[in-house]
Amino acid sequence: MSESVKPAERRGAARTSLVWEALLPVLEAVGTPLDVVDIGGGTGGFAVRVAGLGHRVTVVDPSPDALAALDRRARELPVEVAGRQGDVSSLVDVVGAGSADVVLCHGVLEVVDRPDVALATIREVLRPGGTLSLLVAQRFAAVVARAMAGHFAQALTMLEPDAGRAAAGALPGPGRSGRRFTEAEVRTLLAGAGLDALAVHGIRVFADLVPGAVLDLEPGASAALVELERAVVDRPELRPLATQLHVLAR
Ligand SMILES: C[S@@+](CC[C@H](N)C(=O)[O-])C[C@H]1O[C@@H](n2cnc3c(N)ncnc32)[C@H](O)[C@@H]1O
Repeated sequence: MSESVKPAERRGAARTSLVWEALLPVLEAVGTPLDVVDIGGGTGGFAVRVAGLGHRVTVVDPSPDALAALDRRARELPVEVAGRQGDVSSLVDVVGAGSADVVLCHGVLEVVDRPDVALATIREVLRPGGTLSLLVAQRFAAVVARAMAGHFAQALTMLEPDAGRAAAGALPGPGRSGRRFTEAEVRTLLAGAGLDALAVHGIRVFADLVPGAVLDLEPGASAALVELERAVVDRPELRPLATQLHVLAR
């Protein structure tokens, strides 16, 4: 990666490159075009890459601005991506039950009213044997970040892991900065929707803790960071510290 890229973009690369690497075998396994739905796909950063592999991609998002940006991005490349306005509650109406080989749900469970209902809807949209790629913000990383910033009381209130509440669909509301999950909560939610977690990855174990100046000033630091992140993506000991959890489920 060019060292002229901004630190935030370098951290972004550490996030997206590892999620992409985990997803690629799923997208390449069959060798024929797949129907891929990206719920809450936003401006289509992932969707256009998936479409670039030759798959039929539909982004469903409530934001007209995001869909317009997606359209521009797709045309620039150029690739074909269908943008549909809708949200998780209208997903079945928009794309149809049993219509998707792969559903991407990245950064969305944090903001929906009912993560349990959202996952049940996604299950309905998946074909039998289809794969969900789920990316969610993880709570313990935020606890560490708050504590390191000296916000100890905030860190303390964020601790509360509670898989039981997830099972009842009673996770706290998203709040201003979005909901965060523990791995136990995610597993409980998936099981409640009848989905099996095939693989769980820790994304951004270190990336958000590294001072921007390190990535700015040290030649090769960004690439070395991505390599370090890759080495720990499957390490359960470090997973609770990851900013995000990426789960492949079926
Ligand atoms: C944090 S962004 C994630 C965008 C993209 N998936 C990504 O990973 O870069 C959250 C997206 O969810 C969309 N969104 C908000 N509420 C939603 C809902 N109820 N159902 C589906 N998408 C929703 C937003 O418009 C936004 O594009």
